[in-house]
Amino acid sequence: MPEPTGADQAGGGLTAPEPASGRPGRTGPGLPRRTERLLLRPFRHGDEADVLAYRSREDVVRYMHAEPLPEDAAEAFIAERLGATQIAADNDGIILAVEHDGRVIGDVVIRTGQLADRQAEIGWAFNPEYHGRGFAAEAARELLVLAFCDLGMHRAWAQIDPRNRASARLCERLGMRKEAHFVQDMWFKGAWGDTTIYALLAAEWPDSSGDRSMSERHR
Ligand SMILES: CC(C)(COP(=O)(O)OP(=O)(O)OC[C@H]1O[C@@H](n2cnc3c(N)ncnc32)[C@H](O)[C@@H]1OP(=O)(O)O)[C@@H](O)C(=O)NCCC(=O)NCCS
Repeated sequence: MPEPTGADQAGGGLTAPEPASGRPGRTGPGLPRRTERLLLRPFRHGDEADVLAYRSREDVVRYMHAEPLPEDAAEAFIAERLGATQIAADNDGIILAVEHDGRVIGDVVIRTGQLADRQAEIGWAFNPEYHGRGFAAEAARELLVLAFCDLGMHRAWAQIDPRNRASARLCERLGMRKEAHFVQDMWFKGAWGDTTIYALLAAEWPDSSGDRSMSERHR
């Protein structure tokens, strides 16, 4: 899963460049995003305690490149992500805190490589206290709206550790296709690890034909 920092992403406008496909350019993502039960918004100072509640846990970061977040690193964690609110240049990322009932219960990320390729990598991490209630799926669906509707991405993809069954189930719940299983393709936390790739094309996305109003999405 991607672990971008926001350090190099501050400033600039929200307008995505012209897609390579020749489709008309789209206005960048409106933030924050509201779903039925969640608010997806940029991180802000004051989120440290909520973030520590899950990012400091070994069971949360087990299959992520991150290590458990130490208490004294929480402020820097937030600071690095404050500006990650746009995709306007190669390798940009948008990182959003996921809020439920006034508490940050997780975070999600959408990141591009070469903008011209219109590929969006998506990722997630949620507080175990809130697992099993469909919150991650609800937030990830909104990431797909952001990727396909707002940013005009061609393909969304996720890379996961195949032992991470909860994450694989989430990809499947989103309608993503398992496209690859790479064997021992990385040195991961002291051992060789496998990677599976899940992906979904904009044209395959169930909502792709629905012309959902942006103003409706950005309440
Ligand atoms: C991956 C992760 C986000 C999945 O969280 P999750 O809560 O299981 O995911 P979902 O939001 O899709 O919820 C699905 C579960 O909620 C249940 N559920 C309850 N109400 C639901 C609703 N309204 N809608 C959908 N599912 C609902 C489902 O039945 C399902 O239960 P099951 O797992 O027993 O089948 C979570 O395990 C996590 O944060 N892990 C640690 C970080 C991590 O590994 N990140 C990925 C790195 S590769």
